[in-house]
Amino acid sequence: MVTCYDSTFAKLVALSDVDCILVGDSVAMTMYGHSDTLKATPGLIARHVQAVRAGAQKSFVVADLPFLAHRGSVDETLKAVKLVMRAGANAVKIEGVDGSEDILHLLVESGVPVMGHLGLTPQSVNVFGGFRVQGRSESAANRILEQAKRLEKCGVFAIVLECVPSSLAADITKAVKVPTIGIGAGASCDGQVLVLQDLLGLNTDFQPKFVRQFAKLKTDVVDALNRYHQESQDGTFPNESESFNSQPKG
Ligand code: KIV
Repeated sequence: MVTCYDSTFAKLVALSDVDCILVGDSVAMTMYGHSDTLKATPGLIARHVQAVRAGAQKSFVVADLPFLAHRGSVDETLKAVKLVMRAGANAVKIEGVDGSEDILHLLVESGVPVMGHLGLTPQSVNVFGGFRVQGRSESAANRILEQAKRLEKCGVFAIVLECVPSSLAADITKAVKVPTIGIGAGASCDGQVLVLQDLLGLNTDFQPKFVRQFAKLKTDVVDALNRYHQESQDGTFPNESESFNSQPKG
């Protein structure tokens, strides 16, 4: 799985072998420059789902339910879910399980495929005191394992495990039947997820240990811009074939 927030990249993801697109609330950080995901709203996610769906008509698209969107009334939650699903998402991803079991059951029973998300759930960054690895102590690991089992009972179809020790991710992957999708959770998960800009090497300000850059596009982009600037200055761009002639007469 890979995150994606716009139609240009969605077309490229759709051409690749990647199975699933996540319109994550990391859109708030990656596309809007915020320092955390808390500023994402259902409306913002829905806009980006529309853009992604326009570029990737046949892909399986999961949309994040952003900060607190499932913690108000049932009506408010359903409104948020309708917004992102009618924008084109096939499923929603919801962080955490504590206090959310009833709404998770209700959504699943209502025909909404729900993906869970445990470990470093970024919407709780203020409780964690920063973006820190979770589940390192035995008691914290047991708690996350038990949360994964509860999520499975709620009917989620997959669970994202973010920034937890690999051994814990392996234990969870063995303990639940639904697939686990890891980010900073080692190789034992059933699948992996990364933020597109991180894996393409576009976002080099932020380089967590778990990111591998499968390309170095920042360098390519800056080089291309510099060539465009240089060739505009020296008059070699545009050339004749890149220019229009006046209408041929007769
Ligand atoms: O929003 C996001 O990018 C995510 C991934 C980190 C799983 O939720």
